[in-house]
Amino acid sequence: MKIKSAKFITSAVDPSVYPKDNLPQIVFAGRSNVGKSSFINSMLNIKNLARVSQTPGKTRLLNFFLINEQFYFVDIPGYGYAKASKVQLLDFSKMIEEYFASGNISLGVLLLDSRRIPSEDDLLMYEYFKATKKKLLIILTKADKLSNNQLFNQKRLIKQSLGLEKSEMLLEYSTNSKVNHDLIWNLLLEGIGIDYEI
Ligand code: GTP
Ligand code: MG
Repeated sequence: MKIKSAKFITSAVDPSVYPKDNLPQIVFAGRSNVGKSSFINSMLNIKNLARVSQTPGKTRLLNFFLINEQFYFVDIPGYGYAKASKVQLLDFSKMIEEYFASGNISLGVLLLDSRRIPSEDDLLMYEYFKATKKKLLIILTKADKLSNNQLFNQKRLIKQSLGLEKSEMLLEYSTNSKVNHDLIWNLLLEGIGIDYEI
């Protein structure tokens, strides 16, 4: 996929600030520190467009990035952030619910840590995507931290825990090796109904 342009458009909490055009949006969800912002930067081949941090809780707002003037990547705060206060948790749920209700999400990408069994929050997020009938792609992050054998086993366990069919796909990714980079781009574009040469 040729990235002709990738621009930060806005950070939003309130729906009144979401982009008003009707371009398709791809939302990236996952627990805090799973690697959402890193994944976005890596797919776009741009350092630090989305902010990355060693400390969980870096992304606090909905961040809209316009790609090739054609569609949006939306980086959202991670859930399961241990230090979040009750008020922050409530704000988070409200923000996510309002965003999901906004109607412009064409595709969800759920990022799961390849080394972990999905948490309660991961399972909730997965169920939430299913309940809202959004198309969903699941990516396992930080694949470089596992051997091929470990990855194979983890995929099996994660599938089991989500209750996926054998045929349903889990794709691993690593910002180091960029494994599956092109395939993931194909699926992202297919998911929003844009088809052109990668
Ligand atoms: P929040 O904004 O807190 O929700 O986190 P996030 O999901 O956006 O995670 P972020 O991209 O900030 O990455 C968290 C940490 O994981 C950073 O230290 C990244 O460098 C690291 N990381 C992300 N992807 C990979 C990967 O593929 N491999 C390795 N080894 N580290 C990664
Ligand atoms: Mg982030």
